Amino acid sequence: MIDAKVLENIKKYNQEQLLKFYDELNEDEKNNYDRQLNNLDFNLLDLLNNTKTEKKDSMYEPLGALKLEDIQKNEDEYKKQGIKAIKEGKVGAVLLAGGQGSRLGFDKPKGMFNIGENKEVYIFQRLVENLMDVTTEAGCYIPLFVMTSEINDKDTREFFKEKNYFGYDKDYVFFFVQDMAPSVDYNGKFLMAAKDKLCLTPNGNGGWFSSLLKSDVGNKLDELGIEWLNVFAVDNVLQRIADPLFVGATISSGCPSGAKVVKKARPDEKVGVMCKENGKPSIVEYYELTTEMMEAKDEDGEPAYNYGVILNYLFDVKQLKDIVNNKLSLHMAEKKIAYIDDAGELISPEEANGYKFETLILDMINMFDDCLVFEVEREKEFAPVKNKTGVDSIDTARELLKKNGIEI
Ligand code: UTP
Repeated sequence: MIDAKVLENIKKYNQEQLLKFYDELNEDEKNNYDRQLNNLDFNLLDLLNNTKTEKKDSMYEPLGALKLEDIQKNEDEYKKQGIKAIKEGKVGAVLLAGGQGSRLGFDKPKGMFNIGENKEVYIFQRLVENLMDVTTEAGCYIPLFVMTSEINDKDTREFFKEKNYFGYDKDYVFFFVQDMAPSVDYNGKFLMAAKDKLCLTPNGNGGWFSSLLKSDVGNKLDELGIEWLNVFAVDNVLQRIADPLFVGATISSGCPSGAKVVKKARPDEKVGVMCKENGKPSIVEYYELTTEMMEAKDEDGEPAYNYGVILNYLFDVKQLKDIVNNKLSLHMAEKKIAYIDDAGELISPEEANGYKFETLILDMINMFDDCLVFEVEREKEFAPVKNKTGVDSIDTARELLKKNGIEI
């Protein structure tokens, strides 16, 4: 049964479209749909009317990075410490693979995309191969947690199995599923995927740790004694995972978190850059950078806000547990969302047609007292596959793979 409160909200928020096909449903369909409606968070709609919600008053300062030359100077020490932590089983890796990859327009999990030209090279395979560079060096496997969504979980698990985990030990691969959130069209109406189904899409990458903890593999963290988690995106095919240098440098720094960064390609490049916000590490969006901030210089005379994040973070598990219940800001992302129209026909739009609600991992950084900003070489470690063509696309990633001597 639909809760009375939900019926009230449907009226209050003018969401009557949700009941348009209700009388056509059979009992099972009704029960299933009732459950979804009863869990629907109508408060999300308030966010739509509040898109310009005032950000808290922020005071930004530069946050210095450990630069390539500093890293090189201490390379042996960092590496030793990183490998030691890995050998002791203290490091785990988390692959964020719950996204929909809508910009790429590939209808399977993004990791199943074949980036090869002359042979098959799947994105998942590339990532596992990179991880295996480290496990070979350390002489032990690293637990790999893979976050999927309800949409791509089955395909992802089957693909790993079919490909024999790309040579990794399957006992060290753990899948967990992230949560979903509803979507709305540009008029603020909740979209439906079928007559008995809301349009539910993955709720962003910010909830990864709470989803991991409450999943049936969450207990592995304690069971295996994992103290650090290296979290990374599925779409960077040059991604270095559980990089001993990064692990060693973060542990030596005493910081509870670390972020891999690359120098900005241009002062106005559209990437979020590391900074301090009200005394805590943070990521300032490119559109929030004032001219004064863009012109500020560090002690070496280089731009002070110069390091863009590449979605490769290291977190102290104890501190993650402390902050797991902190609320992350909710963002609205414009997306192409398949939905049923007034006639009940399924429409798959070519262009973005609405918003999904997401929390983002980058907002987690601000919950830590400190963060080691760790510079890496863009050309060696950053080849994102976001778009079909143009910037950060299949073509640019292929070029970078070849430049790095990887056969594709
Ligand atoms: P993106 O921000 O590129 O989002 O994700 P996306 O959904 O994959 O792609 P578009 O925007 O629709 O084209 C960055 C990383 O976060 C993961 C993605 O899989 C990718 O590794 N992610 C994103 C999740 O795991 N869950 C989400 O809900 C969103």
